[in-house]
Amino acid sequence: MRIRNFLAASLLALTALPLALAVEAPRLQQKDGRYTLLVEGRPFLILGGQIHNSSAWPSELPQVWQAMAALHANTMAAPAYWEQIEPQPGHFDFSNVDLLVEGARAHNLHMVLLWFGTWKNGNMQYAPEWVKTDARRFPRMIRPDGEPTDVLSANSRTNLEADKAAFTALMRHMKQIDGEQHTVLLVQVENESGGIGSVRDFSPESNREFAGQVPADLLAAVHEQPGTWSQVFASEADEMFQVYQQARYINEIAAAGKAEFTVPYYINVWPSHFTQELPQRQVAIAGILYPSGGAVQKLVGLWRALAPSIDMIGPDIYTDDSAAYRELMRTYHRPDNPLWIPETGRSDNFAKFFFYAIGDGAIGFSPFGVDNSGWNSLGDDPWKAHARNFALIEPMSREIAQLEFEGKLKTSVEEPGQSQQELDFGAWQATVSYGFPQRDGVKPPGTKDAHAVALVAQLGPDEFLVTGQDSSVNFHVQGKLPGMRSQILSAQEGSYENGVWKPVRLWNGDEVDRGLCFHQKPVVVRVRMGRF
Ligand code: DGJ
Repeated sequence: MRIRNFLAASLLALTALPLALAVEAPRLQQKDGRYTLLVEGRPFLILGGQIHNSSAWPSELPQVWQAMAALHANTMAAPAYWEQIEPQPGHFDFSNVDLLVEGARAHNLHMVLLWFGTWKNGNMQYAPEWVKTDARRFPRMIRPDGEPTDVLSANSRTNLEADKAAFTALMRHMKQIDGEQHTVLLVQVENESGGIGSVRDFSPESNREFAGQVPADLLAAVHEQPGTWSQVFASEADEMFQVYQQARYINEIAAAGKAEFTVPYYINVWPSHFTQELPQRQVAIAGILYPSGGAVQKLVGLWRALAPSIDMIGPDIYTDDSAAYRELMRTYHRPDNPLWIPETGRSDNFAKFFFYAIGDGAIGFSPFGVDNSGWNSLGDDPWKAHARNFALIEPMSREIAQLEFEGKLKTSVEEPGQSQQELDFGAWQATVSYGFPQRDGVKPPGTKDAHAVALVAQLGPDEFLVTGQDSSVNFHVQGKLPGMRSQILSAQEGSYENGVWKPVRLWNGDEVDRGLCFHQKPVVVRVRMGRF
């Protein structure tokens, strides 16, 4: 009997062997209105770092890997440049991308691959020279006054086919080098797509189309009656014309890429409200304030409908105004769109938004410009507070992703003038107090720059995982103060190692009397509460 079992087990192991070599492709999953990114079949939280635009070159990679390690990132976002990949039409060079993928593997990182093709921040910077110098063949977006811009027209089959051919070749190559191992988790199609310089293309051909009827698929998506662009969309007609062409253009490119290399594809967005440093762009007009045609706030739903091959839309968030930041997260976090922050500010004042993001179930969060290429006006390593967050969460990021997906995790983030907050877990409540010293009977002081955070996740009816920075967490039953009819049964400091909780010591006495206190040191506690 035993021998038979042994033989059966060996046979199973042998037949399973070839399958074990290929890793399951990353994919998004939705359950009960929440999303997760499955990596090797399990929820994964992207603790990302995006490198500077000109850092995906061999000369820069040594410092890139150092910066990634210091940031405690688990994923590097890096561009693939059309001009570098296809220096001559149809001649491809994937050496930069190969080095990125090999380096990421060697440094235990996943990757997000960014396609800098037709669009980069609303212009055509990364198109190869043979495209830039042949405007007759690769038409530009024309302004209302007839002047061409440095943006490729979205209303051109030639432009689309050229980008699609390069992107498809790149994705075919990705399949070859990464189709089994899946170091690359996501592909970003274009970068902040759209046109700066004109609201739409005013070439004679586009003007002719614009004078015609709105296509039926767009009418269906916006639930409007037939008519010309101006009749249907009035003052928004020019922008809608651009959106329609651009969404279809990008959708076709994404669909062709996906047929080669199947991971989730997304677009990133330059949102419409943010005031750029450039004064001439501070007018709230598509094509001036933001790239026209992009999936700005008012257009997320339409973009989801027009570009089904795009799996999600992520806002690049560079405002550190907390209300505006959270409003953007709410806008892009929809039943049809997971929350993913592909770019955000790298300085300390952006770090607390990470906790808002994971409290809202984000699949990832990725500060921009995190390598030390000499481009940081803030000096090297300007992302210390992000690094502190990632160092705290990274060792248990799989558990955190799972708890987010199950809706069991809540976060608390300090705002100016607010030194205490309640987290509601039904039978149990957690009072979070910000800043120290916390004296009996006196309101907690808060921190000078309102940066304190806490994270509480429910592991069982009376058990919680707790951590934070410059805050304390006090559990109590509803309607009663801590210590009344409830007490801590055990508070274990420890960490997760390969999914297994490893306690290192018990907290008690002064360490728990006035709540579980978290300072700057990355510490995690598992607490079991009891009632009496
Ligand atoms: C947003 C873009 O997507 C990035 O590539 C980069 O240009 C940053 N802005 C610069 O802050």
